[in-house]
Amino acid sequence: PPVKSTDDHKVAIDEKVKSGGEDINWDSVGFGLTPTDSMFIMKCPIGDKYSEGQLVPYGNFEISPSSSVLNYGQGLFEGMKVYRREDGRIMIFRPEENARRMQMGAERLLMQAPTTEQFIHAVKKTALANERWVPPYGTGTLYLRPLLIGSGAVLGIGPAPECTFLIFASPIGNSYKSGINAFNLSIETKLHRASPGGTGGIKSITNYAPVFESVKRAKAAGFDDVLFLDEETGKHIEEASSCNVFILKGNVISTPPIFGTILPGITRKSILEIARDCGYEVEERRVPVEDVLAADEVFCTGTAVIVTSVASITYQEQRVEYKTGEDTVCHRLRTTLTGIQTGLVEDKKGWTVQL
Ligand code: COI
Repeated sequence: PPVKSTDDHKVAIDEKVKSGGEDINWDSVGFGLTPTDSMFIMKCPIGDKYSEGQLVPYGNFEISPSSSVLNYGQGLFEGMKVYRREDGRIMIFRPEENARRMQMGAERLLMQAPTTEQFIHAVKKTALANERWVPPYGTGTLYLRPLLIGSGAVLGIGPAPECTFLIFASPIGNSYKSGINAFNLSIETKLHRASPGGTGGIKSITNYAPVFESVKRAKAAGFDDVLFLDEETGKHIEEASSCNVFILKGNVISTPPIFGTILPGITRKSILEIARDCGYEVEERRVPVEDVLAADEVFCTGTAVIVTSVASITYQEQRVEYKTGEDTVCHRLRTTLTGIQTGLVEDKKGWTVQL
């Protein structure tokens, strides 16, 4: 099972590194951390070039107490997966999109991101070094977490003089949380995730801790996650704590547009394209709560959640239920996407990269 406390974590490292993960019951692995063998790390003084970069054993590393990431939240992350195909080979999905998104975020936070080439090289090295942790076909994936942090020391507010790029890996199970194949969501009416002009549109680490409280409250009330509303009007849905959201009405699929407050998800972008190819009408538009409540289906997309049905949404005491299961558009889109990712469906778009 995924590790929880620091002590469990230590035990898990010792036991699982020895066993190479072969004894893991993949059905019980959710999205908890299972430490793996190696992580990739490289540094860059701002205005200079990245060092060569190297694989080092997974573990703690030193950082200045006055680093900009610790003091001012100058940091970005990405989420990616290594997929095992039926024939045993491993592949990654659209890595250049993650590289570009990190570059976009780095521009906003005054950091220096690796080039697309450097990023993909690092991803491949990390994936191959931890290959024994890629779960068997159909049981899960190896999740990669690229990080870009302002690691140089500062005191006054301002960007770090040095950035560190690193990638660590953890195998994860098939679903976001083991056993959940549809989400029950509540609409958050108290707090917001992002505001116009803020950082909602980049994968800044600072977008995530502020949602913990909303999610905790929702979970205490029996929900799986929350849907945030736009800060300007409080009338339109934006996204959940860590995934994008879509609604289906008839033959039309809609999702909020990328206007700076919505994370430009790579699964989101892929699903928009797959849905169009499947003959659905696809819209990127502001989606009022009334449309969500009147939808035939609702689903979430993200690297971690893939494409997951929403079973119900609760808004101000009103609960609406949606169609879930195998006879849904959500299921059709998910099957096509995961088929491409695992080599079952022909990749006509050049989205997959074999390692
Ligand atoms: C991902 O789907 O990779 C994410 O970034 C979500 C993460 C916060 C769990």
